[in-house]
Amino acid sequence: MHTLKEKLERRNAKAAVIGLGYVGLPLAMEIAHAGFEVFGIDLDGNKISALKQGKSYISDVPEKIVKDAVSAAHFRPTSDFSVLKDADTVSICVPTPLSKSRDPDISFILAATEEIKKYLHEGQLIVLESTTYPGTTNELILPELEASGLRAGKDFYLAFSPERIDPGNPSFNTRNTPKIVGGITEECGEIAQLFYSKFIDRVIPVSSSKCAEMVKLLENTFRSVNIGMVNELAQMCDLLGVDVYEVIDAAATKPFGFIPFYPGPGLGGHCIPIDPHYLAWKLKALNFQARFIGLAAEINGMMPAVVTTMVADGLNRAAKAIRGSRVFILGVAYKKNVSDCRESPALDVMRMLMDKGAVLSYNDPHVPNLKIGGSVMHSVEASPANIAAQDCVILLTDHSAYDIAQIVAAAKLVIDTRNSTKDLKVFKDKVMKLGAGNNVPGAAHYEDGHDEASVLPMTH
Ligand SMILES: NC(=O)c1ccc[n+]([C@@H]2O[C@H](COP(=O)([O-])OP(=O)(O)OC[C@H]3O[C@@H](n4cnc5c(N)ncnc54)[C@H](O)[C@@H]3O)[C@@H](O)[C@H]2O)c1
Repeated sequence: MHTLKEKLERRNAKAAVIGLGYVGLPLAMEIAHAGFEVFGIDLDGNKISALKQGKSYISDVPEKIVKDAVSAAHFRPTSDFSVLKDADTVSICVPTPLSKSRDPDISFILAATEEIKKYLHEGQLIVLESTTYPGTTNELILPELEASGLRAGKDFYLAFSPERIDPGNPSFNTRNTPKIVGGITEECGEIAQLFYSKFIDRVIPVSSSKCAEMVKLLENTFRSVNIGMVNELAQMCDLLGVDVYEVIDAAATKPFGFIPFYPGPGLGGHCIPIDPHYLAWKLKALNFQARFIGLAAEINGMMPAVVTTMVADGLNRAAKAIRGSRVFILGVAYKKNVSDCRESPALDVMRMLMDKGAVLSYNDPHVPNLKIGGSVMHSVEASPANIAAQDCVILLTDHSAYDIAQIVAAAKLVIDTRNSTKDLKVFKDKVMKLGAGNNVPGAAHYEDGHDEASVLPMTH
């Protein structure tokens, strides 16, 4: 019988990927592309039947790739976990959301582990890819799997390797994004490294699964904190009457020691708004308060309200109130050119405006329907006629499909939260831009510091 090492070298090992979403499906396709046979397991029957018909529901995964992999039997989508008995490697790519009380919800990892345990056998490699708090692999999964009587590093291999995929990124994908790998033991790490080296261009080993878990949380906390800082800077620039984007772009000319981050209507997606809370939660149990994480979450979480205030101020200029005004949202996905609306700040902005009585509609070329506030909304064409009928247009997601000059020309008022109007030469007076100092009514009055009250007559 061949060892796992030999099977990986010969590429005749069978792989399984549990969870076929934004992370799992591209991963499964890369493994299949490298010549391995892949079982793709998901509980969502709709996804499995789409995949069986060779259909892709992830925009970064072209339909042809799925179709070819399925028809060549390199990829076998299923909801039946018993295929794990034939799998040499198992990659766990299930969701790791927050609970209602904003604590880690690791129930999906636990459910997947429970299934793996039933079919765990000698020589099998298990890798957790879902983002989670440091210690999950060795404190939670290891004891569960070892309860089978098999030992990690001896009978089976266990590692953590964070997924770093950036949906919609045209330059970096699963294959050319370097992969961090940390094993429960040295041998676990080496086997996992060998597995990934077969379909990822560069694999970077670290000393433990806990270190690998922490690497991912550093990356996402780094983004959250820096975005929080520029979101605060945008508010400062508004008060100072300086364009925050001009400031950032000028600072970014420094060839060392500065990385540009840009403000926006708030954080979105399944990573940046959530992952740092996993780290903060873990540290809380150790009686340590992660202050940067808390502060960044607070500032980033305020941004939808900042945008709502801009809308109120813009309408106020035309002697209108939010209540009864027609407000058109451009872009509801959490970032450009994707359809993912998870944690999207657009949803918060829309809820706030609905609560205040705005007559809302939206356009998103990637999101045809949206369930919000208990009702279903449908994307409306962003035609000049539709735009001209609105009291206010809010640019929330800078999808490439938007013709900004045409939108601004047709609109009465545009709230730009993404610097989309930076190249505009005309109609600038219709635009209020986040962080550009043109949306704080009378900000200059705050500056002179001469406001005062007196019980005596004033000289002038
Ligand atoms: N989306 C990203 O950009 C991104 C990037 C890096 C890391 N991550 C991390 O990767 C993980 C997965 O994220 P995602 O965006 O792919 O999530 P997703 O929701 O798109 O996909 C997860 C899939 O897992 C399936 N699933 C849930 N429980 C299951 C179970 N017990 N057995 C089998 N299938 C199950 C769901 O049906 C779903 O299809 C998360 O931990 C996330 O933080 C996501």
